[in-house]
Amino acid sequence: MYYTKKRRIKKGPIIVLAVIILVIILIVVGINLYNHYTSNEYRLSEAGYNEDEIKEILKFDEKYITYAIEHKYEDDFIPLLKEKYFLWKNYDKYIAYIDEEYGNKQVDYSKVVSLVNVGADSDPYTNTKKADMDKGYAILVNKYTSLPEKYAPDDIVEMSNWYAYPDNSIRQEVYDAFKEMSEAAKETGYTLIVNSSYRSYDEQKAIYDDYEDNRGKEYADTYAARPDFSEHQTGLSLDVFSPGANMSNFADTETFKWLSENCYKYGFILRYPEGKEEITGYNYEAWHYRYLGKELAKKVYESGLTYDEYYAYYLDK
Ligand code: DAL
Ligand code: ZN
Repeated sequence: MYYTKKRRIKKGPIIVLAVIILVIILIVVGINLYNHYTSNEYRLSEAGYNEDEIKEILKFDEKYITYAIEHKYEDDFIPLLKEKYFLWKNYDKYIAYIDEEYGNKQVDYSKVVSLVNVGADSDPYTNTKKADMDKGYAILVNKYTSLPEKYAPDDIVEMSNWYAYPDNSIRQEVYDAFKEMSEAAKETGYTLIVNSSYRSYDEQKAIYDDYEDNRGKEYADTYAARPDFSEHQTGLSLDVFSPGANMSNFADTETFKWLSENCYKYGFILRYPEGKEEITGYNYEAWHYRYLGKELAKKVYESGLTYDEYYAYYLDK
């Protein structure tokens, strides 16, 4: 008699194996779920951004993505982020300025970024700060940034009547650069003459007060800086004309054309350009040239930015 030997399958190991597989599956699913719910995509969509916007945001660095998530959905976020001179530290100010100035109107994001970067979202001469004098020839002075009280440079020299109308003086290095520029202009057939240069605190005050007394504060502020806020007091700026020209006609001269296109080669920039009045806070001044040194002047010229914008983006660290 034969017995068929019943093969007994041991259940114990199978159960153990099944449990292991289940645990592995649960771990994998768990990891996937965890990854999904903590992913930037998910968190951005939870913050309210749509698929296209998420795609745009994900092109930026992690810190921008985190900021977008933390600040929830903002209509203006992507357009602002795309602006070349967008500065992260100013984000909240951009939003506040847009809310205040635009309402439902089409927002000019470039303008918002420029104005906020230079501080022009605040009223001039309010919340002013002190210029960073360690920047040397690159210091910024404008309606939001003042010189130390009654500042006076210590290397001012008299300008010869060959280069300037009487009673003009300027810092030595600026004088040397102007002489070089003036010679180059002459070789091309143009004559430059300095009309105004270094102005002490008291001289700047007298000029400002004169404008204010005759035309009122608002007018004065678009033509002259208040004392301690003028580039003339730095000893780094010159008002330049061709002989016989004046404020009302210099912009139309060939000399101006040459000067504005070539001054950077000698270390100068046109400081208050046409069309940038809201940014600089001053009327177009075809005659006012600011010394920065050759290297920086070239960079500023090529950027097409005003010095206020350039400084805010590249130098104000
Ligand atoms: N005119 C320029 C702005 C000044 O007074 O410094
Ligand atoms: Zn000037």
